[in-house]
Amino acid sequence: MAKFSLPKNSQYTEGKAWPKPEGAKNLQEFRIYRWSPDDGSNPRIDTYHVDRDDCGPMVLDALIWIKSNLDSTLTFRRSCREGICGSCAMNIDGQNTIACTMGIDECASSGAVKIYPLPHMPVLKDLVPDLTTFFAQHAAVEPWLQTDSPTPEHEWRQSPEDRVELDGLYECILCACCTTACPSYWWNGDRFLGPAALLHAYRWLADSRDERTGDRLDTLEDPFRLYRCHTIMNCANACPKGLNPAKAIAKIKKMMVERHV
Ligand code: SF4
Ligand code: SF4
Ligand code: FES
Repeated sequence: MAKFSLPKNSQYTEGKAWPKPEGAKNLQEFRIYRWSPDDGSNPRIDTYHVDRDDCGPMVLDALIWIKSNLDSTLTFRRSCREGICGSCAMNIDGQNTIACTMGIDECASSGAVKIYPLPHMPVLKDLVPDLTTFFAQHAAVEPWLQTDSPTPEHEWRQSPEDRVELDGLYECILCACCTTACPSYWWNGDRFLGPAALLHAYRWLADSRDERTGDRLDTLEDPFRLYRCHTIMNCANACPKGLNPAKAIAKIKKMMVERHV
């Protein structure tokens, strides 16, 4: 699994070592990125010890345990706790992933578990990145069915064979693990749409019911929006749902070639 460099501001200072829970026999150490816009301080790394006998098995369980038992100011996103909403994406031991499906035992083999926000994104607070641009890029590919034909009385029909074409695309939970692992996005994130938005672009290009293929390809035909992908494949390595945005991007590029022959 590819590992990545961490947030842009590397001026970390050693932060607070929180007291170990009294009487706990099964401790796991966590070193967690902390930054607040309110105190004018550089980012710091705080150290916590979690009582594994009192905590669930996942990294998100540990974060919730820390927030509930040690430090209520620790800030992170989460919602579903079962790998569906994409909210809890962060960088755990150098790997972008979602905290609710990452077992503590999977990542704690070498001492402390190190947790940072997703890399190369502005940080709002602690483990919460600003995803405004990421979601604007998703919206820019107009991720909904677009048709010119009259709306059918009951439903837009699709054969089982055409439906299968959407497998590996519709499962995306918009966690941003792929996009924030992409070197091309790190350098050109304002103009390159990034792997997640492009995977969604292809999801609609591949949909047999959609009738705006030409318009969609016109929008993507740009030196930056699509062609900044250099097939480095970090995106596929990073996706916690096992999807392959690089493959979807390659298929868009193939459609571009085919429309010009
Ligand atoms: S394959 Fe393309 S989109 Fe994926 S990480 Fe590499 S450059 Fe980024
Ligand atoms: S493709 Fe995978 S990594 Fe990228 S946003 Fe979707 S679920 Fe997350
Ligand atoms: S909390 Fe929803 S994906 Fe982790």
